[in-house]
Amino acid sequence: MTTTANPDLSQTQIVLRATDVWKSFEDGAITVLQGASLEARQGQTIALCGPSGCGKSTLLHLFGGLDTPERGQVWVNGVEVNRQRDLLRLLRHEVGFVFQLHNLIPDLTLAENCLIPAVAAGTERRAARERLEHLADRTGLSHRLGQRIQKLSGGERQRTALCRALMNRPRILLADEPTGSLDEKTSAAVFDLLLDLAATEGVTLLMATHDLALAARCDRLLEMHDGTIHEPSTR
Ligand SMILES: Nc1ncnc2c1ncn2[C@@H]1O[C@H](COP(=O)(O)OP(=O)(O)O)[C@@H](O)[C@H]1O
Ligand SMILES: [Mg+2]
Repeated sequence: MTTTANPDLSQTQIVLRATDVWKSFEDGAITVLQGASLEARQGQTIALCGPSGCGKSTLLHLFGGLDTPERGQVWVNGVEVNRQRDLLRLLRHEVGFVFQLHNLIPDLTLAENCLIPAVAAGTERRAARERLEHLADRTGLSHRLGQRIQKLSGGERQRTALCRALMNRPRILLADEPTGSLDEKTSAAVFDLLLDLAATEGVTLLMATHDLALAARCDRLLEMHDGTIHEPSTR
């Protein structure tokens, strides 16, 4: 079977762009990205695949403004990340992050974890609460809102992380092995939700994953090796 990027999305706006990006660590001893380039259009779901250590997380961090490239440029919604006057704005409004380990605050409740980024972004408390209730409903977490994170299952924690990432209605969702710490069945259920929410919220999803079965369900599959990104034309 030959699949191409969803044709309906082929002409939409480019929301993520990396051009010839280089990145190394330890004063150049570890070279990770060596001319990586990609373009992602609004609403696309994209899987970024490749072996552990190939640089998937490094690339996602550059898009989220959590790190800077040595050479090349990274653009989010038409603005070069390095030149963003307000990096916090990027993190709070334009991109949402879901990590492999949920990165939630264990002693706080599900609701508190999700409301923090919304309130920090200046959302009025009542509007934030309504948004949370909507997302909790979509992710089957309505009955867990007052529960502390430490009492939640792995799948519930990742679903909470998904809600938190979407609270401020980002146009881009960066997901770093979002189901990597879950068993197969839970992973599939969380991934179904991720795709469903990405579609209804209209976000662009860039997801690092090892899981080729999950990757095959995205609009596009990108492979990283030798510090560059390739898009196989057929799969
Ligand atoms: N902050 C850092 N300091 C030193 N080395 C790092 C740092 N971040 C990543 N690396 C190294 O860069 C390489 C790519 O890492 P990473 O982007 O996490 O890969 P992946 O997400 O594909 O598993 C690895 O060799 C890793 O050890
Ligand atoms: Mg990684």
